[in-house]
Amino acid sequence: MNRVLSCIQPTGDVHLGNFLGALRQWVSGQQDCDGFYGIVDLHALTVTERPGVIGQATMQLAAVLFAVGLNPQVSTVFVQSHVPEHSQLAWIMECNVSFGELSRMTQFKDKSAKRDGEFISAGLFTYPALMAADILLYDAHDVPVGDDQRQHIEITRDIAMRFNARYGDTFVVPNAVMPKTGARVMDLQDPRSKMSKSATTDSGLVYLLDEPEAILKKFKRAVTDSETEVRFDRENKPGISNLLEIHAAATGQTPSAVAERYSQYGPLKADTGEAVIELLRPIQARYAELMSDRGELSSLLRLGAVKARGVAAATLQRAYDSVGFLTS
Ligand code: TRP
Repeated sequence: MNRVLSCIQPTGDVHLGNFLGALRQWVSGQQDCDGFYGIVDLHALTVTERPGVIGQATMQLAAVLFAVGLNPQVSTVFVQSHVPEHSQLAWIMECNVSFGELSRMTQFKDKSAKRDGEFISAGLFTYPALMAADILLYDAHDVPVGDDQRQHIEITRDIAMRFNARYGDTFVVPNAVMPKTGARVMDLQDPRSKMSKSATTDSGLVYLLDEPEAILKKFKRAVTDSETEVRFDRENKPGISNLLEIHAAATGQTPSAVAERYSQYGPLKADTGEAVIELLRPIQARYAELMSDRGELSSLLRLGAVKARGVAAATLQRAYDSVGFLTS
């Protein structure tokens, strides 16, 4: 079975865009691939400094991943820091990537520019080396990533090829593949932009753990347009189209089929809110259950860590052998 690796950082709460756009596809595809799903807490350390914050966010994200339906018997859900091979291989990656290559990464340029005046860690700069380690450890052929991560896959390929040329064939050279995307969910207040953690205000974002009343309120206040016709047309009617797409994704229909049933904006907004509330209700219930039994949650993550280490340790050993470190 095809090994697929997907990783997510424990920063910020999971929102409807993450769920309908990506997580739901992880869940529906888990039977057809050998899926490894990493909560990459070491990556979060590049920008999170307060003690305890990452651990708490990791626990919550793990509960969300299980609550939306990742099955620990089928998929490997693990926490990056529980698999020390990530840090160990990252150093070898750092020694096989150049300062020049890292300097050209657009994500570093963007993120460091945004942190002007704040502490910019060397980890933020060498982040692609850790990400290369994440990928190469699992011999993943395909890595589903969005456009913003393509350059990271490119540099991972370059590192893998360079290492293989220097030390002999060791790593699988991975390919970036288009993730199976679900719905494209836009910000409810700014429907021309994707729903994103980096939005300036929260009012256009629906979080997976939002209370039903809050969800309804956000949908009722969604930005639309000054016309009155309900029609799926992303170009000219981004707000209405976003509501139709979300409604359709939540109820398993097509956006145009939903459009046919509405002639007014008000009921479309309210019903979309209700549909999302119903979609999230069982997820929120499972989340609460998981969070009330931390022991069980930890043991699920231990299971994932054992499975992940089984693969990662073998790959790291292969890399050590290729380098020719003195065996201990
Ligand atoms: N850099 C990715 C992001 O910011 C997260 C990530 C870390 C990742 N390691 C990975 C994604 C390995 C895919 C594979 O979203």
